[in-house]
Amino acid sequence: MPSCGQQLVAWLLLRGIHHVTTVIHNAGVAWMGPTDTQPASSIDTMLAVNAHAPIFMTRALLPFLRTAGSVHAASSAKACGGSSKAAVTAAPAAVVFVSSVLVMLPTPKYTAYNVSKCLIDSFAWSLRLELQGSGVAVHVVRPGATKVRAGA
Ligand SMILES: NC(=O)c1ccc[n+]([C@@H]2O[C@H](COP(=O)([O-])OP(=O)(O)OC[C@H]3O[C@@H](n4cnc5c(N)ncnc54)[C@H](OP(=O)(O)O)[C@@H]3O)[C@@H](O)[C@H]2O)c1
Repeated sequence: MPSCGQQLVAWLLLRGIHHVTTVIHNAGVAWMGPTDTQPASSIDTMLAVNAHAPIFMTRALLPFLRTAGSVHAASSAKACGGSSKAAVTAAPAAVVFVSSVLVMLPTPKYTAYNVSKCLIDSFAWSLRLELQGSGVAVHVVRPGATKVRAGA
């Protein structure tokens, strides 16, 4: 069975999309509950949606992002008189991970959610270092508690 990353690439190519400059991993699920009684399926889903999926989608999209980053870096460096550092800082390809303020704020009954966000947060910061100089920026957003749905 293909990974979600492979499925995403197949979806893009079938539609003739070969150019990807920006990826935003916003999808997420957050279910709270006492650690000893929270359903295992809830924990599995949070790990799958919040961590596994963005990791494997990012892996699959890296060739696209690297290409976009290198093309941009080269053309902008020319426009900036050869300063590739300034060019990459200006507008690189980018991948954005939506983490959570809870990675810095241990919270009862959010243990599995926090683990899932710590996983993706840590992945992002390491990837950020790995991609230095590639023209692909990695950003991490850590929102605080926000009411997003009526009745939620
Ligand atoms: N709200 C907060 O207090 C808060 C705080 C910190 C971090 N965050 C993070 O912010 C991000 C956005 O959340 P939100 O607060 O805006 O909540 P939300 O309104 O519930 O949005 C979550 C989004 O994730 C999508 N999603 C969930 N499961 C999915 C799956 N299996 N496949 C594809 N898409 C899926 C949902 O799609 P559907 O609409 O189709 O269901 C929805 O668009 C999440 O990563 C969340 O963890 C939120």
